[in-house]
Amino acid sequence: MKPLLIIGSGGQLARAFAELCPDAIILDRSKADLSQPHNLTETLEKYDPAAVINTAAYTQVDNAEAEEGLATAINAQSPAAMAIYCAAKHIPLVHFSTDYVFDGSGDTPWHEDDTPAPLNAYGRSKLAGEDAITHVGGRYLILRTSWLYDARGKNFLNTILRLAAEREELRIVDDQFGAPTYTPHLANAVLDVLDVAMELPKFPSGVYHLCNQGYTTWYGFATAIIIHARRLGMQLKVRSIIPTPTSEYPVPAKRPHNSRLDCSKALSQFGVSLPTWQEGLAECMELKSTPRA
Ligand SMILES: NC(=O)c1ccc[n+]([C@@H]2O[C@H](COP(=O)([O-])OP(=O)(O)OC[C@H]3O[C@@H](n4cnc5c(N)ncnc54)[C@H](OP(=O)(O)O)[C@@H]3O)[C@@H](O)[C@H]2O)c1
Repeated sequence: MKPLLIIGSGGQLARAFAELCPDAIILDRSKADLSQPHNLTETLEKYDPAAVINTAAYTQVDNAEAEEGLATAINAQSPAAMAIYCAAKHIPLVHFSTDYVFDGSGDTPWHEDDTPAPLNAYGRSKLAGEDAITHVGGRYLILRTSWLYDARGKNFLNTILRLAAEREELRIVDDQFGAPTYTPHLANAVLDVLDVAMELPKFPSGVYHLCNQGYTTWYGFATAIIIHARRLGMQLKVRSIIPTPTSEYPVPAKRPHNSRLDCSKALSQFGVSLPTWQEGLAECMELKSTPRA
């Protein structure tokens, strides 16, 4: 059986796939530099995979405001090259996109066919990636997800744990709503989706939403992280967590207030859904508290 080809190796999602797919070929930045889209086809031609899963992306949301060209090369032009390669080989491309393609208005979950209107350069670059892949066509799954974290990555969970060990008071944004998504849950669901998609008589190319179920705010997520950390006996200095409006945190890139994604299309098409965000957090915190073998 042909292996999966996974683009990206050091990222949170790439790590989850690497754990689940020990036989996959994994290309890190030194082998596949997505800032050089023109070189990518030649790189990919060396392999003969069953499918390509692209986990690599320019993900520094604030820096993207000043580096939109680079973000677009990595998030749109290179994925377009992957789509062309996959279409020519008649193999699926799995690509990840984001809740940040939406403007965050309203208070109901976004559907796949709602009109995107990104508020920032990162969101524009990811939307350009979606458009480029869709334009190429072939067999593709564009999976929009939200608020990724794992036990080891540079992410909100680990930032909160670090700050909670250093400070007595934390002020956390309480007016952005979304689903924290645990990357091992996402990777597992994606492999199930891909299995089902490859068995269908017609490959169901399209955009799908996939994230842990339920939603909260960053404040709600931070509070839950601290509760777990205390239960697990972690040493924390923090005494109070104060809910704070986004307006108190001026950052270069505007964030959407409503990042909720409706995942019912993936459930009805593939029979796949993720556990709740609370289950994801509980699993992640257990893992963090377990000394590595
Ligand atoms: N993080 C989130 O909250 C979030 C939310 C919604 C959607 N997403 C999407 O989900 C996917 C996975 O995100 P993630 O959180 O796992 O990302 P991540 O942890 O930030 O990792 C990004 C990966 O992309 C690689 N990369 C960056 N520039 C590259 C380049 N020029 N060439 C090759 N590789 C490059 C990085 O390589 P190095 O290790 O060498 O730096 C890193 O391995 C991305 O498509 C992202 O847009 C993420």
